[in-house]
Amino acid sequence: MTEQENAIRAGAGSAGDGDGAAPRVRLRDRDAELRSVEAAVDRLCRGFAAGGTEIGDLLTFSGRPGIGKTSLLHEVRRLAKLREGATVLFARGGERQFKEPYHVLRQLLQPVLSDLRPEVFSQVMGTWEEVVGPAMGIKQPKAGARRLDPQGVRDGLDYVITQLAPRRAPMVMIVDDLHWADGESLSWLTKFAIRSSELPVLLVFAFREDENDWPTETQEPFRKDVLRLKGRKHELNRLTLSSVTDMIRAELGDKAEDAFCYEFWNVVNGNPFEANALLDQVRDQELEPVEENSRQLRELAVDATGMTLKSWLDRLGASTLRFAWACAMLGTDIRVDLATRISTQSTEGARDSIKQLRKQRVLTQTPNGNLEFVHPLIASSIYNTMPDATRLGMHGIAAAEIENAGLGLLAASRHLVETHSGEGDDRIVKKLRRAAVEHQLIGAPEAAQRCLHRALNEPPADEIKAEVLYELGCSALLTDPVATVNQLKLALDPDEVPLRPELRVDATFRLSEVLAHSGELGQAALVCQKEAQQTADPAGRQRLQAASFMWHAFRKSEEDGPGRSARLGEMCRNLGGRTAADRAVLAMRAWDLTLRGAPSAEALALADEVLDAGRLPKGLGWTDTTWGFELPSMLGLTYIYNDRIAQAERLAADAIIQFEIAGWSGAHRGFAYFLMGLARFRRGLLAEAEDFLRRAHRISERIGQRLPLAWDAIGVLVDTLIARGRVEEAWTLANDFGFHPPYHSTAMVLPDAASLYGKLLVAKEKYAGAAAALTEAGAQLEVRGWRNTVWAPWAGHLAIAIARDEPERARDYAERAVQDARNFGTASAIGSALRLQARIEDGQAAVELLEDAVTYLGQSPAGYEHAVALVDLGAALRRVGRLDDAQEYLYQGIELAQHCSAEGLVDRARRELANYGLRPNRLGLRDFRETIDTLSSAEWEVAKRAVQGVPPQRIADELGVPIGLVNRRLAAVYRKAGSGPDGLASALGLPPQQRDASGLEDLDD
Ligand SMILES: Nc1ncnc2c1ncn2[C@@H]1O[C@H](COP(=O)(O)OP(=O)(O)OP(=O)(O)O)[C@@H](O)[C@H]1O
Ligand SMILES: [Mg+2]
Repeated sequence: MTEQENAIRAGAGSAGDGDGAAPRVRLRDRDAELRSVEAAVDRLCRGFAAGGTEIGDLLTFSGRPGIGKTSLLHEVRRLAKLREGATVLFARGGERQFKEPYHVLRQLLQPVLSDLRPEVFSQVMGTWEEVVGPAMGIKQPKAGARRLDPQGVRDGLDYVITQLAPRRAPMVMIVDDLHWADGESLSWLTKFAIRSSELPVLLVFAFREDENDWPTETQEPFRKDVLRLKGRKHELNRLTLSSVTDMIRAELGDKAEDAFCYEFWNVVNGNPFEANALLDQVRDQELEPVEENSRQLRELAVDATGMTLKSWLDRLGASTLRFAWACAMLGTDIRVDLATRISTQSTEGARDSIKQLRKQRVLTQTPNGNLEFVHPLIASSIYNTMPDATRLGMHGIAAAEIENAGLGLLAASRHLVETHSGEGDDRIVKKLRRAAVEHQLIGAPEAAQRCLHRALNEPPADEIKAEVLYELGCSALLTDPVATVNQLKLALDPDEVPLRPELRVDATFRLSEVLAHSGELGQAALVCQKEAQQTADPAGRQRLQAASFMWHAFRKSEEDGPGRSARLGEMCRNLGGRTAADRAVLAMRAWDLTLRGAPSAEALALADEVLDAGRLPKGLGWTDTTWGFELPSMLGLTYIYNDRIAQAERLAADAIIQFEIAGWSGAHRGFAYFLMGLARFRRGLLAEAEDFLRRAHRISERIGQRLPLAWDAIGVLVDTLIARGRVEEAWTLANDFGFHPPYHSTAMVLPDAASLYGKLLVAKEKYAGAAAALTEAGAQLEVRGWRNTVWAPWAGHLAIAIARDEPERARDYAERAVQDARNFGTASAIGSALRLQARIEDGQAAVELLEDAVTYLGQSPAGYEHAVALVDLGAALRRVGRLDDAQEYLYQGIELAQHCSAEGLVDRARRELANYGLRPNRLGLRDFRETIDTLSSAEWEVAKRAVQGVPPQRIADELGVPIGLVNRRLAAVYRKAGSGPDGLASALGLPPQQRDASGLEDLDD
């Protein structure tokens, strides 16, 4: 493109959707940038036409105010719109709107999302509709909805854009004035920009890079993120002398002297906005463009761009200026009726003001009939000349008028927080509190907090103050633990007017929750205990007592474990009914019994009483805030350790979905992944376990460093890697993370960290270290009265670690573990303990123990443990010379280990076979019976007919099912039988094909 051709609409560069409104202006000195734009759009469209999907790109334009960024973006829009099928999305930040949550993203996405057909809309939204919908303002929050976690909104947006982009590709997303984008939008956009290349999206940003041009310090981290972005970056330079000279001569004629033009260029420093402003002045003042006059330019420039209150007053007059202030208050896309009412002018007066403001090139009209400042620099200048009192007052009027106009409290609250405080106006406090609630429902806790802080400054009536503090504390629950703790402590301050009793209980519980999540479990328990003593209401007291039990249970160590357990048992026996609170106590007790290794049936009976037909009861759901997610977690853990893994997996799957729907993407979802990972690990699905655990760990890292959740995830991940035979990787992971004593300083790691660590050392054959770690673990658990050998298999592994040096002691430990496991009574616990005991025995003794272990584990869901026992048994049989039996168990072990993705175990079994002259793989066809067993009855029906040579279509007709289904079943039959049609009969042990009975008779003859 040549410069002559690039006459574009740059003029009122900022006009919102004002593509049609702005005059065409020639864009000078921007050839390189324009080529870059054209090339980027071209690459995107060609790439997409060629079937590409990961073809995204990022273009940024930065530079000083007025340098021409918006003008270039208009060119991007124009070029992109010329492309057939392209979707062009546009949004911009507003200096007055950077505190409006999702202001930019709503502009960007609302139009395209609301344009989708209903079925496409549901596909694009997936499970995120209740999260992204309210945040993007295209859906009311569901009745009874709770606060949204902003991280959940971001995750939802990731999903939505991934779905949307390919459907609307090629897609160009343009954001102007990114420096004024709201924090909620920025935090998603900056992350999306990093991975935009994975989608068919060209992302284009324009922003001022100087920190003074970013609105507050809180945006500083975003500024840094934006500056760090990698892409095609263009920093716009000032215009050249010759371009500015051209601009001057185009306006004032060729008579403009070189010296004048040179001084002009110097004064405006090549800035096109300032050049235009100064040209206006020169024209208004009828200044001759000759050398002698060039000295006056500097003064004129100050007038042109450095407008003061006085200069605006002189230029516009008081009432017109007041109208302009009202407009500045509203930001971008200004509704005339609102501006009129905020300026307290009559309709006629407003009409005159608008006329005057358009004439003075302050305002312009957009195609939708709204108003717009011709340039954001002018809007800033007008707003900044407002005297403080006027500004505070006008924000108050704006808030009221916006509400009256039916635009809602969310929109009004931006003005409410800017109003004058100190009046003690109850209505304002009420409104701000309501606005805070609404902000939480769209995933904007920071905006909610601004409202509540402002409410506190009002100030609220004494009896309300603690309540506002409580709400403030709750608003930061998902995002800012430190703030939450402080505010809730203030809300509970004994020297202030006290909080209503029911709120006191809740505030205490919340405080304890946040303390617990930050690892302060002892504190958490104490806070509840103390408050419980002062709580008169029995239900409230029970809740706090139960909570204190719960936090103690999650502590790394406690002074009086057995005592607490006894008290919990007592509480359990005295329960009056089956309310949610009662069931909460039952769940706690079930978990307590599990940890203690009490007979499994007892714990399971209690856990089953908590559930309603296998599901969590009302009031104890994953997202219920009365009890928090710890409670269902304890239930899930109980099922995992009591061999009811399928039930635990149902709960964990529910958790993942519930948290997704509620948009709780932080620790909550991370924990749900952990729980699922642990369940999968226990079941022996190691590859899946690894995947879930890694996800849990990633989420945890995103929230903070080495949180309890990370310990949990790493611990089980290490265990999983050992099981998969990747001991070195497990060792490195543990070391990199620092998974070793003294472990997490306050919180218990799930499952027992010391046992896991000892197990790792045994796997590394570091027996002395293992012995020390496991002995210590045993002592600690003993004090606590916890004897669950699956949760903490320290004794069995300790036996292995010391077997060589202290065989007697080793036997004692192994025996003790078996005893404890028998006492607990689950098949997996007994089987695993026996298997460990066999490791320190030899000969026939080992064989017998392992035969028992295999029998037990064969009846448990612990697939991997079963596989290990089979291989161990095979090896033990080989050692006593029973090679045939050895071979059989090793084959079984290999098959199961393969199913578990326990590659290391498969290798070990194969080596065992190969080293002793046995075949490392089963020979020939599998046993007919076994193959037949794996066929479903439907597959079997199809197979029998296929063997008879019945063609698929006829099989379909005979069975009355679609042909597609027959083909699918046939494929399964061939796969399972290990044969195509020809050998199928013999693979299934059926008589060979008898296509035609009469033919056979002929042969017989
Ligand atoms: N390359 C150019 N040649 C001539 N005039 C230009 C050029 N770029 C911009 N202008 C004019 O300069 C004025 C300011 O440009 P623009 O609004 O694009 O600046 P900006 O960088 O977006 O400023 P801000 O940071 O304040 O948003 C506009 O009126 C536009 O017409
Ligand atoms: Mg701009």
